[in-house]
Amino acid sequence: MQQQWSDIDAYIESHLMPEDPILTQTLQNTADKGFPDHLAVAANQGMLLQMLIQMNQCKRVLELGTFAAYSTMWLARALPEDGYILTIEGRDTHAALGQENIDNAKLKQMVELKVGRAADILKSLPENFEPFDFIFIDADKQSYPEYLELSLKFSRSGTIIFLDNVIRAGDILDEKNVKPSIEGIREMYRLMQNHPRLLSSTALQTVGSKGHDGFALAIVK
Ligand SMILES: C[S@@+](CC[C@H](N)C(=O)[O-])C[C@H]1O[C@@H](n2cnc3c(N)ncnc32)[C@H](O)[C@@H]1O
Repeated sequence: MQQQWSDIDAYIESHLMPEDPILTQTLQNTADKGFPDHLAVAANQGMLLQMLIQMNQCKRVLELGTFAAYSTMWLARALPEDGYILTIEGRDTHAALGQENIDNAKLKQMVELKVGRAADILKSLPENFEPFDFIFIDADKQSYPEYLELSLKFSRSGTIIFLDNVIRAGDILDEKNVKPSIEGIREMYRLMQNHPRLLSSTALQTVGSKGHDGFALAIVK
């Protein structure tokens, strides 16, 4: 099935994704430097992130897990000139690559990349930090419950929270799989269920060039 899913993603991309030299250059530079390409979102998912931001006229975006800043580019494309993205990356080599790609894309004004453990950086932000309109969580899965709670500290009513990779080819249903990443995702579902600060939540499973996975989406009350 994987080949067919990839072919269908390629078909969708060839019809609906605009040619964008910045996105192409980001992927090329990432490959040239020997980094894996599977960590980044697929283009059609990048477009979904972009559209959610556009639909809700978001201006301030938080991203946890920058990697090469490919998803950051999609987030940035949706923002007005005075938009702001705070993106956080824990691994030095990824942060250096991400910053290089951000600089090449001339997004330095709009995108601030902070290096360190995402939870530590969020905890170091001032209490009165202006809330984000859109939050994209794509760092280590074992910390998703903590990231969800921390995100709520920096949210307003209507903030959208998007958590990536919450299906993991169905591993969330495999009781024998007690990897911290899978347990973290399960705990995230438990936390989202009837969370007093969430207006509504859902999760969708997806198939495509990145395999069988999915994302969760929540709106802050
Ligand atoms: C799936 S990749 C992000 C991909 C990127 N969002 C994209 O779609 O182009 C996850 C990233 O999170 C980073 N990461 C893992 N644990 C982290 C942590 N505790 N704090 C910050 N970043 C972390 C990894 O180094 C990796 O670069």
